[in-house]
Amino acid sequence: MPTSNEIRKTFLEFFKDRGHTVVESSSLVPIDDPTLLFTNAGMNQFKDVFLGIDKRNYSRASTSQKCVRAGGKHNDLDTVGRTPRHHTFFEMLGNFSFGDYFKQEAIEYAWEFLTEVVGLPKEKLWVTIFQDDDEAYELWQEYTDVKAERIIRLGEKDNFWSMGDTGPCGPCSEIHYDRGEKYSCDNPECGLGVCDCDRWLEVWNLVFMQYNRNEAGEMTPLPRPSIDTGMGLERLSSILQGVESNFDTDLFIPIIKKIEDLTGIEYDAGDAGFPFRVIADHSRACTFLIADGVLPSNDGRGYVLRRILRRAVRFGRLLGMEEAFLYKNVDVVCDLMKKAYPYLEEKKEFVKEVIRLEEERFFLTLNEGLKRVEEILKENRKKGNTVIAGEEAFMLYDTYGFPLDLTQDMAEENSFSVDTEGFNRMMEEQRKRARKANKGDDVFARDRILAEFLSDIAETVFTGYEELNSHSSVLAIIKDNKLVDAADNGRVLLISASTPFYAESGGQLADSGRIKGENGELLVDDVQKLAGRIIHSGLLNGSLSCGENIVLEVNKEKRLATARNHTATHLLHKALRMVLGEHAQQKGSLVEENRLRFDFSHLAALNDKELSEIEHIVNKSIWDMHEVNTSVDTIDKARELGAIALFGEKYGEKVRIVRISDFSMELCGGTHVQNTGQIGLFKIINEGSIGSGLRRIEALSGNYAFEYLQEMETGLKRAASFLRSTTSEVNNRVELMSRNLKDKEKEIENLKATLSKASSADVLANARNINGAAVLIEAIDCEDPNSLRQNAEMIKDRLGSSVVLLASVIGDKVSLVCFVSKDLLGKGLNAGKIVSAAARAAGGGGGGRPDMAQAGARDSSKLEEALQTAREEVEKILR
Ligand code: ALA
Repeated sequence: MPTSNEIRKTFLEFFKDRGHTVVESSSLVPIDDPTLLFTNAGMNQFKDVFLGIDKRNYSRASTSQKCVRAGGKHNDLDTVGRTPRHHTFFEMLGNFSFGDYFKQEAIEYAWEFLTEVVGLPKEKLWVTIFQDDDEAYELWQEYTDVKAERIIRLGEKDNFWSMGDTGPCGPCSEIHYDRGEKYSCDNPECGLGVCDCDRWLEVWNLVFMQYNRNEAGEMTPLPRPSIDTGMGLERLSSILQGVESNFDTDLFIPIIKKIEDLTGIEYDAGDAGFPFRVIADHSRACTFLIADGVLPSNDGRGYVLRRILRRAVRFGRLLGMEEAFLYKNVDVVCDLMKKAYPYLEEKKEFVKEVIRLEEERFFLTLNEGLKRVEEILKENRKKGNTVIAGEEAFMLYDTYGFPLDLTQDMAEENSFSVDTEGFNRMMEEQRKRARKANKGDDVFARDRILAEFLSDIAETVFTGYEELNSHSSVLAIIKDNKLVDAADNGRVLLISASTPFYAESGGQLADSGRIKGENGELLVDDVQKLAGRIIHSGLLNGSLSCGENIVLEVNKEKRLATARNHTATHLLHKALRMVLGEHAQQKGSLVEENRLRFDFSHLAALNDKELSEIEHIVNKSIWDMHEVNTSVDTIDKARELGAIALFGEKYGEKVRIVRISDFSMELCGGTHVQNTGQIGLFKIINEGSIGSGLRRIEALSGNYAFEYLQEMETGLKRAASFLRSTTSEVNNRVELMSRNLKDKEKEIENLKATLSKASSADVLANARNINGAAVLIEAIDCEDPNSLRQNAEMIKDRLGSSVVLLASVIGDKVSLVCFVSKDLLGKGLNAGKIVSAAARAAGGGGGGRPDMAQAGARDSSKLEEALQTAREEVEKILR
């Protein structure tokens, strides 16, 4: 019984022996293709070759391609685990012909491989073809021994393949494996093309690539008819290993075993094993996606990853997992797959950490969210409702982080459905709110307009690596979105035969400068590149016309400052890997004239020690004056040399390598200094998080770094002079001062307490005895009504059987407070009445309880009258 590793190898070798170049799987993140969420088929990396835009030095290729089908046109997320044969992540074995062989050989190769190399019984194989494809029908008859009644014609849905809504496409022919009657469905007609049951296993899809479909849905023939085929490794393994389901192959068994260990529950190949299959599948998808640079986030690819991951966590919860567990499967996945994908080993720890953090985060809200779901279901059931409303699903998303498909899973398990339209409406509203907050230019609209002109204009020769000034001629001028022969005064776009101007790319901003003609000058402030044409954009003074000779001058200072930052970025990238580890990879960068920004994968905030070590390494490599050299080589050679390439960057056959002596080597098209010494100085000014597992560093180089340090020094000097100290003493001085300040504050507190005690003690002496009751009615100095009350209460307690009224001028008003001890209340004394009578005498009012009351009055000149009134009031009652 062959292992899946052996099957993969046998396949690639079979095609290698038939003149195919074995090409490495491309990343799951499609290279430079915004129309595609994830690599979903082997042909993706060859899309431009099919279209005739890109050329390779081979016309036959074969791959084992990592694919993810979750989100986008081909989406199998919901199906995973319910069938024996669907996955989010899988490997596609494929052979490709770029205008080399066509239908006949594709059919012959496939038949030979299946029946002779891996030995599938012919009586178990069936074939489908596109309904109108008589040619394919004839070829199957002539070149294989498949029986005529086993060739079935099907419509576009089954036998016409396209990668997405646009792009290369064509009719296809599929080979199916009949797993036997035992797997038949209930349909009495059960048969290939009639039902979609588990008896009929689609094994291999042969696509006869003939067309390119545009956005309007129109199909134009491809330059050369080509072949694209795809066969799922997991399915082929299940057949060759004689097992019932992909999940019983050696690609999955160890993962399922691990889940058994973690949960203590035994796997059941039937319905009860559904959560196991989902978790096993999703463990592979999460591992490979993160290893290819995707991180959980709230949109795009990152959101699909988050959905997959959270779905796995929820299923783990169903199996009783109460805390992060999924990350523990990563080791198993890596062990299984590292033979074919050796890079997994070095990414493993990072992948685990990303999964663990995301799991922990989700577990925090999962339980609460599940409770909410229970409530929602219960409330709806009571009302006889079986639909979870859009608002409810959105609340679960927004508050508890439940992706829609998770809510749908749970709804389905309870025979409910979800109002997805309502949910989408609420999402859209939220997006609109977010969009309002950051409006953007419609770059695509601009590109579409330009694309119409460009085909008639030659590609631009870029001379800016060697020179900053040059002569050329005008090929095209575009004004107000129209191609014109000449233009004057105003904003225009200009394309010349050659140019030294660097167009924005790879994170490096465009050059600026001037383009001078006979009768005018263009002040270039932006340069973009589209389909090989370099487009200058700027303000025209005077006039320029097509065909005229021009002088192009790049702004030298800006170019040099930008180059310093760009080379510094490479040094920083290297230093980060040295200090933090190989996982600290570039995720984005911005190289400007006056600063640089560098985004990289790393989980924790950098501490001061790490930051200073990184700065030190970069500066040392500046002062060591390394030479910077560039060369152009094949991508394979560059890899062999160990050059660092970036995810999501498009690299052609030939790549440019930027080498900083033996310190750093990266693929890069940017402009650099010739020697690191030219950078002069490097300073990090900021470090922070920009998403889970993503950090950003902002830094300066050259004169900008120097000016930053000067500014800091000026600030420090000013502080020193305030403190009458020296810059080196500022620290100690400030520390000392703040300690002193704290001591002083404490002292003031103590003094205040002593003062108020002392003054109440003075006041105590003024108490008079009237018929056995102590009466104290006085004005004192107090800062606020609160301490006035505290003082009065304290005095009352000290005097025992007593009436105490204290008044104080606070601000420009009079505050009064009165206490009557409980034993005197029976005698008709009432604090409320006393205090309000007193306040009235000074133009105010107030009141409260019989034993304690407060009041305020406006007229502080009547303070004495107020006290007198109170005294009389009290005496009247006591005597
Ligand atoms: N590109 C074809 C598929 O994905 C082979 O089925």
